[in-house]
Amino acid sequence: MSNMLEVSNLKVAVDDVEILQGIDLEIGRGEVHVLMGPNGAGKSTLARTIMADPQFEQVEGDIYFEGENINEFSTDERAKLGIFLTFQNPLEVAGISVEDFLRTTKIELTGEDISVIKFKRELKGHMQDLDLDQAYAERYLNVGFSGGEKKKGEILQMSVLNPDLVMLDEPDSGLDVDAVRIVSETVADFLSDKNKSCLIITHHSVILESVKPDFAHILIDGKIVKRGGPELIERVNDEGYNWIREELGLEKVHDEVLD
Ligand SMILES: Nc1ncnc2c1ncn2[C@@H]1O[C@H](COP(=O)(O)OP(=O)(O)O)[C@@H](O)[C@H]1O
Ligand SMILES: [Mg+2]
Repeated sequence: MSNMLEVSNLKVAVDDVEILQGIDLEIGRGEVHVLMGPNGAGKSTLARTIMADPQFEQVEGDIYFEGENINEFSTDERAKLGIFLTFQNPLEVAGISVEDFLRTTKIELTGEDISVIKFKRELKGHMQDLDLDQAYAERYLNVGFSGGEKKKGEILQMSVLNPDLVMLDEPDSGLDVDAVRIVSETVADFLSDKNKSCLIITHHSVILESVKPDFAHILIDGKIVKRGGPELIERVNDEGYNWIREELGLEKVHDEVLD
């Protein structure tokens, strides 16, 4: 059986500057992978290229989903296949409520006709899981939302759209302890369905305690320089990246900030 996601020799440029320099990544069905690396390594670039964000130019390599080459697929087409990405900085959209936005997106992606009543009921359950007030559904998307409300909104979108491959880009940044716990549990619960796969970008061990990754990949300067299992995550959390730089003969970074 083919992997759910296969990225092969992926090179990506922004404004003619090569940011990703030949990435290989395979994610099987039911697997959870964590992507770690210092700021500016290219982690968001990788996730956004897999989602076909037009800011990023795929200059070389291939991306396969369920065995099919999706190099030429638009963001919308990839979403329809079941690929999902949360953003570090979600967009604000005045004039459309959270509920309308989510229902419209779900109808567009699935082609199903979902009644307002049925959708309301489904949404209510997901909002309860995330400890979101029912009034949240009526508010304009992300407008005046706190950081925590925006982040929870992204996870709510994941629950509603029910993708096969979930990419989470720092889903825990800017959240307080309680919100991190709620988000972590919601994601872990979603991934308890072994047909789902996940690529999570995070530095925080709290979320990784719930969302137990099977594999870790360390990205430095646009290259995956190390791979391993949970023991690698632990070591990076304890020691940062300098020991890896040392192994590679790269210059160490002083006062490294792990955010
Ligand atoms: N839209 C963009 N325009 C110009 N440079 C960018 C853009 N997005 C990312 N970069 C550059 O690409 C590199 C990797 O960024 P990013 O993928 O956001 O890193 P990470 O998520 O690992 O912190 C950085 O040097 C960053 O400045
Ligand atoms: Mg990033």
